[in-house]
Amino acid sequence: MNGENKQLTKTNPFMPETARIVRTYHLTEDVKFFQVRIVEMDKALSFKYRPGQFAMISVLGAGEAPFSISSTPSRPGLLEFCIRKAGTVTNALFRMKENDLVGFRGPYGNGFPLEKMKDKDILITVGGLGVAPLRSVLLYCLDNRDQFRRVSLLHGAKRPAEMIFREEFFALKQREDLECHLAVDEDDTGTWTENIGVVTTLFLKLKEIDIANTFALICGPPVMYKFVIKELVKLNIPKDQILMTLERRMKCGVGKCGHCAIDYVYTCLDGPVFTYWDVIHMRELI
Ligand SMILES: Cc1cc2nc3c(=O)[nH]c(=O)nc-3n(C[C@H](O)[C@H](O)[C@H](O)COP(=O)(O)OP(=O)(O)OC[C@H]3O[C@@H](n4cnc5c(N)ncnc54)[C@H](O)[C@@H]3O)c2cc1C
Ligand code: FES
Repeated sequence: MNGENKQLTKTNPFMPETARIVRTYHLTEDVKFFQVRIVEMDKALSFKYRPGQFAMISVLGAGEAPFSISSTPSRPGLLEFCIRKAGTVTNALFRMKENDLVGFRGPYGNGFPLEKMKDKDILITVGGLGVAPLRSVLLYCLDNRDQFRRVSLLHGAKRPAEMIFREEFFALKQREDLECHLAVDEDDTGTWTENIGVVTTLFLKLKEIDIANTFALICGPPVMYKFVIKELVKLNIPKDQILMTLERRMKCGVGKCGHCAIDYVYTCLDGPVFTYWDVIHMRELI
């Protein structure tokens, strides 16, 4: 590569890094786990991001799409994603195998305000694929356990086979420094040992909540937000301590194309993490 091109790589925000798929397997029938590593090892090890940020992943000939980073920055080197089969890019990704190469650029978006969340209780509520960005926060909190007070996870899925990271969360249930409650809307296996009901029924399982010192984090299908927020508001959690990650159609990820804009907000830059306070002032966000 000549000097001019090197400069282009450095300054062109759309130029992806090459990343190798290290591991991939099905989490559910239509969701796959991808563990990737940026090929240039120094870049892989120095890559910095915060939980809640996303990256653009591209497949040659298919295009690129945004995905939440599901791993934690406290474990550098490898980046993890859980990806649902939806269309062109995700179908191409599903055909890829370990050792195949993808394009990778990022990290993008604001991520969660970890500094503000320090020394607070963290209550995470997720449904379905919403687990993708919040697994990053959860693992970060567990890796830095002394920086946070109580950590709780409420995780809901339609059926046992659709619970993403089911085995991982069952294993985490053994930890004494995490309150972990799992639920399915319906048990079609007859072997489910956890709760049956929608994710909001898990609020009844929580021990007393220290309202002023709790950050409540939500991610899930659109219908979930309304009901979870209702519970959190009932509990009197301050609106700026209710944080949610929201998806919008995105193309560039860097505030250039306007695809993700709502009024004056670019969700790729100002989001995808928003407070309930933001959402009240901009109803179109959800
Ligand atoms: C910030 C952010 C984080 C994301 N994180 C994840 C993640 O962790 N895992 C994951 O599986 N997906 C995630 N998504 C959604 C993912 O980007 C889309 O599923 C992907 O762009 C689909 O690309 P495709 O080429 O496979 O599908 P396409 O061929 O583009 O479309 C297939 C179908 O999906 C619809 N679609 C495309 N994009 C979206 C969207 N953003 N919202 C709703 N419908 C859409 C299209 O209208 C079409 O009906 C995220 C999106 C954003 C904006
Ligand atoms: S995705 Fe292009 S401006 Fe946000």
